[in-house]
Amino acid sequence: MARIFSLLNHKGGVGKTTSAINIAAGLARLGKRVLLVDLDPQASLTISLGVPRQPVTVYEAFRGEAEFMPFTVKDNLDIITSRIELSGVESELINEAGREYILAELLDPLRDMYDFIVMDCPPSLGLLTLNALTASDFVYIPMQTEFLALQGLAKIKQVIDKVRFRLNKQLEIGGVIATMYDSRKVLNRDVVEMIKKYFGDKVFQTMIRDNVALAEAPSQRQDIFSYSPSSIGAEDYLNLCKEILERMEAAAQPSSLRQQRV
Ligand SMILES: Nc1ncnc2c1ncn2[C@@H]1O[C@H](COP(=O)(O)OP(=O)(O)OP(=O)(O)O)[C@@H](O)[C@H]1O
Ligand SMILES: [Mg+2]
Repeated sequence: MARIFSLLNHKGGVGKTTSAINIAAGLARLGKRVLLVDLDPQASLTISLGVPRQPVTVYEAFRGEAEFMPFTVKDNLDIITSRIELSGVESELINEAGREYILAELLDPLRDMYDFIVMDCPPSLGLLTLNALTASDFVYIPMQTEFLALQGLAKIKQVIDKVRFRLNKQLEIGGVIATMYDSRKVLNRDVVEMIKKYFGDKVFQTMIRDNVALAEAPSQRQDIFSYSPSSIGAEDYLNLCKEILERMEAAAQPSSLRQQRV
């Protein structure tokens, strides 16, 4: 049964979409069956992978007009796309009972078809993000290693805690991903230290370095492994995927064994 995770940070431009694409593509490369879900009305994920317009996007499915129909991007990698109309869904579903559970229900029949379902959240903490958190086992928080990275974190934690309390008891912070890291910059190094102080060992050891190939790949409608397999971006995301798999394996072990490992 698929493990489901969301890339979440209500700050814009921190690497959520880049991480969703390249973690999903990396896991697919490691032989896992992966479904990507684009929950952002900006549809950056859909556009970055060059997916043609689909008859059913997250929007139609949220409105109850159709079931999800995944589109195959490449071996082991499928996607459910987004479109700009999704921005209206919040007000359209204002009176819908149980509206935070819509995505979890839609994904339920697909869970047996994949090893992982990876969701790209919009830069907000509205209904779409609440749906993502309600459907997820884990949340990963990408953080740009720049000034103000930590601002607003209390809000993210508060939302995660509320979702855990009211909507999804399983939800865990799976990890924090430092993005656009440049070890030559003192500020970047300082921010990483601050992030580690705040999140402890939740911070992945693999940091995603600043790498122009990661910014170029979407313009060629490709993930980093197709666009530039020898780039440091590909190296970092593949290492991150391996770390994610290790953490998930450890989390799946009985707690007595887990304690021995620490
Ligand atoms: N490691 C990196 N090195 C260089 N550029 C990067 C890196 N990661 C992301 N970028 C670039 O930074 C910009 C923002 O990244 P991305 O779109 O992934 O962020 P986001 O959090 O999804 O943004 P939004 O909140 O708008 O959805 C993009 O132009 C992307 O190509
Ligand atoms: Mg994005």
